[in-house]
Amino acid sequence: MNLAILGGSKLVTRPLGKTWPIWDEREEKALLETLHSGIWWRGGAKDLAKGQVARFEDGFVEFQGGKHCVCVTNGTQAIEAALKALGIGRGDEVLVPALTFVASATAIALVNATPVFVDVDPETYAISADAMEAAITPNTRAAVVVHIGGYPPDMDRVLEIAKKHDLKIVEDCAHAHGTQWRGKGAGTLGDFGTFSFQMGKALTAGEGGAILTGDDTLAELAYSYHHIGRMPGRPFYEFHRLASNLRMTEWQGAILRCQLERMPEQTGRREKNAAHLAQGLRDIPGLDAIERDPRVTRWGFYFWDFHYRKEEFGDIPRSVFLKAVAAEGLSVSVGAHGGCIYKNPVFQNATGEMPDYTKVHCPDAERVSTEQALSLTHKLFLGETDDMDLMLEVFRKLRDNVDELRTVEV
Ligand SMILES: Cc1ncc(COP(=O)(O)O)c(C=O)c1O
Repeated sequence: MNLAILGGSKLVTRPLGKTWPIWDEREEKALLETLHSGIWWRGGAKDLAKGQVARFEDGFVEFQGGKHCVCVTNGTQAIEAALKALGIGRGDEVLVPALTFVASATAIALVNATPVFVDVDPETYAISADAMEAAITPNTRAAVVVHIGGYPPDMDRVLEIAKKHDLKIVEDCAHAHGTQWRGKGAGTLGDFGTFSFQMGKALTAGEGGAILTGDDTLAELAYSYHHIGRMPGRPFYEFHRLASNLRMTEWQGAILRCQLERMPEQTGRREKNAAHLAQGLRDIPGLDAIERDPRVTRWGFYFWDFHYRKEEFGDIPRSVFLKAVAAEGLSVSVGAHGGCIYKNPVFQNATGEMPDYTKVHCPDAERVSTEQALSLTHKLFLGETDDMDLMLEVFRKLRDNVDELRTVEV
């Protein structure tokens, strides 16, 4: 027997990529500096523009693009604050793709609006522009479009539809630090872009989030929604709206400034390695990279999705392929962030003003999430080209041994 799952020797016997997070004495120094400064929250800096969070916000705008950045506690509350700043609330329908992390949709419900699930493009796993337009009703006010894994939806069409139907666009960029569409950063194309800096993400402080916007008024509103209703330039004890405290700490700002320094190199490395892997997959029937749209001028990613075509892989079910890959020492996950999020109990059991989500059916999202989508973590792409070659060797080994693979018990 050749395959490790059937008792053969496994191919990957050394670590691939890098462990995450990556840090060194820069983070240690920055944290100690923050400790000794005695300024542990952003409002404590004498010159507010010189605090750690404020300086990270400037740096992030420089890296990602756009005009204004407001750092917040996490990516979920970033979406909530953006929707609130856009005036979205009760009675409003907000479109959201069926395949994403649950927070893209629960954030909509948490501002009392109604999430409306939209099918995805089966070749990119991002929201389908056609399905998006078809889902619009007189109550549709906005869409939370997700750069899934880091790969953008067709932003030209999304923006065209938004203009035609007067919709607000929040780009959920929790996976898309570094991604660019036609040279413009993800998160700078719609009304707002929101980011997560949670531990696994390609830019992290353990937890954290950010909101980008190019609009001065929206930036003030986002600031207000993250700062208990205060307005920039107004007295400290004057509150303008009902809002929570979503402020990021100076500790997180200090870490993020260090992490951001590595971001251009890391983004380039991930992208270069992914291109090498994609090229190699061309020779392995049954495994396809996402066909990159030339308008995706930079592809930053949190996970790299690709396709499993069972019919070209000896009709082996994806679950068997995943087990066999793992036995060879390579970790591949179900892609496109798992399953359709409307299948979660939070939607299936929704009551009150919520629609009956048991009736929702997005056929492409259901098919690709159960049969087709595969995913590799960004950490694997931070290593050398050799790592990509070893991954390709694993895939080739399985493809060359489909007859053996067929004997694996499901
Ligand atoms: C697509 C997407 N949106 C939003 C979030 C929420 O981010 P956070 O975990 O920082 O709240 C995540 C987190 O993984 C995500 O994957």
